[in-house]
Amino acid sequence: MDAPVSLLAIDKLYQALDLHPFQQPWWKNALRWLKQHQEWAWALLLFVIVLNAYHFWLEFRFSKSKKALEQTLLRLKEKSELLEHSQRVAIVGELGSSLAHEINQPLTAIRNYSEGGLLRLAKRRPHEDIVPVLENIQQQVERADAIVRRLRALIKKRSIEKRPSHVEALIDDTVELMRFRLQKQNIAVIRSLEGTAVEVNVDGVGIQQALVNLLNNALDACELQRGESGANYLGKILIKTEYSAESLVVRVLDNGTGLKHDNPTEAFASTKQEGLGLGLAICIDVMELHGGEFAIHSVLPHGCMATLTIPYHATQH
Ligand SMILES: Nc1ncnc2c1ncn2[C@@H]1O[C@H](COP(=O)(O)OP(=O)(O)O)[C@@H](O)[C@H]1O
Ligand SMILES: [Mg+2]
Repeated sequence: MDAPVSLLAIDKLYQALDLHPFQQPWWKNALRWLKQHQEWAWALLLFVIVLNAYHFWLEFRFSKSKKALEQTLLRLKEKSELLEHSQRVAIVGELGSSLAHEINQPLTAIRNYSEGGLLRLAKRRPHEDIVPVLENIQQQVERADAIVRRLRALIKKRSIEKRPSHVEALIDDTVELMRFRLQKQNIAVIRSLEGTAVEVNVDGVGIQQALVNLLNNALDACELQRGESGANYLGKILIKTEYSAESLVVRVLDNGTGLKHDNPTEAFASTKQEGLGLGLAICIDVMELHGGEFAIHSVLPHGCMATLTIPYHATQH
């Protein structure tokens, strides 16, 4: 005879298998629970709605700030283009009298030579006598042309172009551009070189712009110092290049007044009546483009040293 199976055991088995005839499907249970706890259900629904609304509100805010950010970026870009433009124009101002003189010189020479040539023609001198005059004129035309070309390269709108360059030659070229002012103020430029000069990957025009600014600042400071020290003062500017293993350091040292401004590198900071205050800002800009650094400080007994550090392998482009 079979042992009687307890009803309870069967019941338990049904339950374990989820097949109990009296067992309600889960959703019915849930519905019942909801009916019993309506306030909770409403609260839950409200919570979900609020959460969704919050999400959409955040998204809306996000897209709005994104648009605002994009617009700010655009404005910033316009401003930086404007600044770049004013910097380029500032360079023309910086070169000012030097430039007029540089261009006038060959023009005056051309006038003299052509007058001389005409005189020789009037005297019916042989052609052999006229040829050297014409050659001289040709030379002066080339000189004027070179000046204009250099200036155009310095101020034209350009994309930054870095290429391997001889910085020594760039410096020579810049000193040449400033020659008139240097001579007028009777300031000696001394060059010195440490290490072995190698080609460095630079934006030549940018480096020249920085140098023009530094030389002009040094000249301004020397002029002021002459006013303080008197006629015996001998203004000097030392341009030192140091080629080390990782970088080229260019120093411009003058024996002028030294810094009279706490934050001279800020854009538009100037102690000069007609000063734009952009020169040092340009230097910082140019150095940033090279992944380098710009620094300026006073030296004893009086004077100033500006330092451009240009790494051979820029970290920034
Ligand atoms: N070599 C220097 N000697 C003394 N002061 C300097 C020198 N270079 C710059 N400065 C100071 O830094 C200021 C800012 O220079 P810069 O940006 O070139 O503008 P700006 O020459 O138009 O005034 C100058 O007005 C001057 O006070
Ligand atoms: Mg300046």
